Amino acid sequence: MANGLDDVVAAETVLSDVDGAGGHLTIRGHSLAELAGHWRYGQVVRLLFDGFFDELPGDDELEKAIGNARVEVFERLQPMLAELPALDVYSGMRAGIALLPDGESLADALRLIAAPAVLTPALLRLGRGEKPLTPDARADHANDMLRMLSGTPSPALAKALDTYLVTVCDHGLNASTFATRVVASTQAGLTSAILAGLGALKGPLHGGAPGPVIEMLDAIEASGDAAAWLRNEIARGERIMGFGHRIYRVRDPRADVLKAVVRRLGTRNESGRRLAFAETVEQAALDVLKVAKPQRSIQTNVEFYTALLLEAAGFPKEAFSNVFAAGRVAGWIAHAREQQATGRLIRPQSRYVGPVPDLVA
Ligand code: ACO
Repeated sequence: MANGLDDVVAAETVLSDVDGAGGHLTIRGHSLAELAGHWRYGQVVRLLFDGFFDELPGDDELEKAIGNARVEVFERLQPMLAELPALDVYSGMRAGIALLPDGESLADALRLIAAPAVLTPALLRLGRGEKPLTPDARADHANDMLRMLSGTPSPALAKALDTYLVTVCDHGLNASTFATRVVASTQAGLTSAILAGLGALKGPLHGGAPGPVIEMLDAIEASGDAAAWLRNEIARGERIMGFGHRIYRVRDPRADVLKAVVRRLGTRNESGRRLAFAETVEQAALDVLKVAKPQRSIQTNVEFYTALLLEAAGFPKEAFSNVFAAGRVAGWIAHAREQQATGRLIRPQSRYVGPVPDLVA
């Protein structure tokens, strides 16, 4: 039996397909290349939600509704915000989301889309002793998220974050999406299902990897010898963050999309210097992993360049998983609705391998 359910098909979905051998990602009939950098996040939310909510409006109307939802979430949660920074920024976001109504309507879904984008900058500002900024309902989602963090962003940064949110919006039956579907299969509300996804995403084997990627880059820079540092990590039984994937045996296509975004942010500034250094670390890691784990094709995954992009966008590393959640929440909601529509409870079996009771004669 595979402990990690490898190769088990646990759902049929129209939402996304991960081709691990070819390195392709399809989202509702569109390739990642078609969507990333070309569609806005709000348009992709509509693409994913289509058919799962009765009263879904057109793109422009839906983006306005997401803007209104940001304002509504801020107003609802503002009285509690001061209590949340005592937690780490991910747990604070999760706690804030847990306070939202647990329904299944489009309004419930839009509040959940809005919540990570509103709570993350608010908690970061409170954490550094600044007042949270009120959302602007008319602004583009990514632009507003950055504005609430540190004032009006450059169009290039807003576009970079928008492309990131689109790139991570959905990705087959990953751990957090599966967790979301399990809870949705009980016919619990969307907030309960999304809380399950948030819990699963936090771990370093899933969405918690990009923060440690920054720590790794800093440690390697300080050490001055990438290959030696990486070899030592593997010898200590550690995993190299931002490398390897359960499904991809080739390069994760999202890594190249995000690398190109970081490159567009400039080659002569700090993100350009960071990118050049990261490229040398990436090559060293691929070389070291090839020798250390010859039985496994371990390639760069989405988290490696996520770290660089979110760092360039001004997010501290402890908030990277929050921003991942801000993108992935659209996929979680669509998967939750798709699972609920099947009406089928997810309930696998376990094989008992524990001690057996003594039989009483
Ligand atoms: N560094 C070092 N060794 C690795 C790595 C890595 N990043 N990834 C896999 N391996 C090794 C394992 O140690 C194992 O070696 P062994 O056979 O000598 O024991 C072998 O490759 C197979 O490992 P599995 O755990 O079976 O591979 P799996 O497909 O389950 O792993 C995972 C996928 C969890 C993502 C893994 O590659 C990993 O831990 N990567 C680092 C963390 C990371 O980047 N996470 C983000 C993933 S992307 C995302 O979720 C959005």
